[in-house]
Amino acid sequence: MTSPALRVHNVWKRFGSRDALAGVSLEAPRGSCFAMLGHNGSGKTTLLRILATLSAPTEGEAQVLGHAVGAESGAIRGKIGVVLDRHLLPRDFALRDALRMYADLYGVRDANARIEDLAARLGLARRLRDPVRTFSRGMGQRASICRALLHDPEMLILDEPFTGLDAAALAITDEVIQETVAEGRTVVLVTHDLERAARLATHSVVLSNGKKTFDGDPVEAAAAATAGRGLAG
Ligand SMILES: Nc1ncnc2c1ncn2[C@@H]1O[C@H](COP(=O)(O)OP(=O)(O)OP(=O)(O)O)[C@@H](O)[C@H]1O
Ligand SMILES: [Mg+2]
Repeated sequence: MTSPALRVHNVWKRFGSRDALAGVSLEAPRGSCFAMLGHNGSGKTTLLRILATLSAPTEGEAQVLGHAVGAESGAIRGKIGVVLDRHLLPRDFALRDALRMYADLYGVRDANARIEDLAARLGLARRLRDPVRTFSRGMGQRASICRALLHDPEMLILDEPFTGLDAAALAITDEVIQETVAEGRTVVLVTHDLERAARLATHSVVLSNGKKTFDGDPVEAAAAATAGRGLAG
């Protein structure tokens, strides 16, 4: 039997005296679009950063694509593409060179063709020669999606990927998510766009104050997340 895409068991993350995550357990099958919903400060980004191997849990265990976070973080990094709220691309590089740097890091074959392809898909073909620092917020976001897709990852991890995108870029991002799932890959999606989550996700959880308060159908989760609004703190 193949391992699930995500397996999180009793994960805690403490920042000083604050529990950002207080014993979260969850599982996501491969080929799912797994949405994590919840109010500001509920622990979504904290959990996403742990899954993306950018931060270690204080307690508990997590596996991504069958690899243990921590001991096998290197193997995980090669198989995931991550979009966080900041784009992480070197500001003074032309987009083409910035993407090339990541492509080389990942050992992407036919890197130039892949970069042209992705830039065209994300509507950035004409900006490949421009320094990243000249990009608008939405363009930076699209560049970040290009970077995340470069090495054809088995899992896409997206933290609020829709913020700042115009209608065309939103449609492209929806398409990227749907195609990724249709190919049997997994998308882990954190968003406040509940309508989108209900439409795109196949599985979902709601976090509240570092705890999982809902696990199940995305349409019901969106309703549960709405009901939980105003309880942040
Ligand atoms: N580096 C940090 N140091 C101290 N506290 C932190 C740190 N990162 C997160 N926290 C705290 O952990 C809790 C969860 O934060 P997190 O960023 O995971 O929330 P979130 O669900 O992503 O919220 P949002 O919807 O606003 O993005 C918050 O109380 C936050 O203040
Ligand atoms: Mg967040």
